[in-house]
Amino acid sequence: MTILHAVTQLQTDPVTSRLNTLLEAGALEIAIKDGALQLAGKTAAEITAEFGSPLYIYSERILRRRARECRRFLQYEPFVPNYSCKANTNVALLQIVHSEGLHADAMSPGEILLLRAAGFQPNEIFYVGNYVDDAELLYAIKAGVQVSVDSLAQLERFGRLNPGGQVAVRINPGMGDGHHKKVVTGGAESKFGIWYEDVSKIKEITARYNLRIAGINQHIGSNYLTGDVYLQTVARLLSIAEQFADLDFVDFGGGMGIPYKNNTGRLDLVELGGRVSDMLESWTARYGKRITAQIEPGRYVVAESGLLLITVQALKENPGLSFVGTDGGFNVLARPVMYGSHHEIINTRNVDNTNGKTVTICGNICESGDKLAEDRQLAATAQGDVLAVLDAGAYGFSMASNYNSRLRPAEVLITQENSLRLVRERGTLEDLLRHQIY
Ligand code: LLP
Repeated sequence: MTILHAVTQLQTDPVTSRLNTLLEAGALEIAIKDGALQLAGKTAAEITAEFGSPLYIYSERILRRRARECRRFLQYEPFVPNYSCKANTNVALLQIVHSEGLHADAMSPGEILLLRAAGFQPNEIFYVGNYVDDAELLYAIKAGVQVSVDSLAQLERFGRLNPGGQVAVRINPGMGDGHHKKVVTGGAESKFGIWYEDVSKIKEITARYNLRIAGINQHIGSNYLTGDVYLQTVARLLSIAEQFADLDFVDFGGGMGIPYKNNTGRLDLVELGGRVSDMLESWTARYGKRITAQIEPGRYVVAESGLLLITVQALKENPGLSFVGTDGGFNVLARPVMYGSHHEIINTRNVDNTNGKTVTICGNICESGDKLAEDRQLAATAQGDVLAVLDAGAYGFSMASNYNSRLRPAEVLITQENSLRLVRERGTLEDLLRHQIY
């Protein structure tokens, strides 16, 4: 497979293999040579020899490409795409996203701090908290970022802390969408947002504390591949927005999905954005004021730029089951264990899985559920091989932990100039003792 072949296929066929997408979007930095994956002109094994394993590795070029797609989501203006940094808070990546003109949303003081460190100005940060205490709210208010509250009780709390101030409210539009019920954030079962029928209660609290509602926002869930539910909630949010006289912005949230599985269609972002823009134009005519439209994509911006390199430590044959045992435990990538999420996995020495063996790929954590993939075709694999887990840039490192007192992995960036740059050191044993009192 050549890069050229991959490009041609992508242009004619929106349903692509994940590897092709990577090759096409990464252009120079990611290639296949003699059947093996090459990153910045090196084999994966050379890279893990230098930086260690497991290792997160990101393509600057792919990150910029996806950030630009989000930047162009709406023709409607003014439009601000906020990168939802919970997907990945590596500061070097945040700097890249910022340089592409995106603003950001944060959900904790920690995320505000990291965004500020990356150069985001306070007016480029949207703080969308959930069940936060006074200290967090005061941190956000003092940081000068736009605050959104997501319950009536939190609106009261904000009013007490900052009477006469301005604030946004997160609305639960009564419906949600997403790849797993754990990530659906709209509808009666969701803990997020103020129920959409409670506008009069919002107004009552707002009046009591002399607050101004500057914006309303929603986020209905994560990783949807059709825009059907999203568009319904956009319409609903706009009808709620009409009930507030003096808004500065409306924010439709993130959740735009990426096709983790081979041969899955892409979400048509251009089409979706076109529909939202049309709705906004006719809404603006009714509202009588042109306000800012915002979105909050996290995964879409960063997922495809990231690979997780893991190393095969041992093979094992049980009756009827072949295990490929790696250092990629769920402390490193939690998504498969937490949501049953699918990530394509390739042997970097031989990327073609078509005639592969059916295996279970697992990590090194002391739990039987520590499996990255079950019943998966994988090209012939030997101890010492480096596997690449694709589409690992979002909710990969950011959800990594020290479980089993294992260390967090390092992170490396493949720059546009085709060089490898360490952007986070591997954790150390000393980290495990830090903050312990004994
Ligand atoms: N805005 C808000 C308020 C959010 O809570 C989220 C994600 C986003 C935006 C960005 O959503 P995205 O565009 O990335 O789908 N750990 C899960 C995903 C959890 C999403 C949490 N909230 C996973 O790995 O699939």
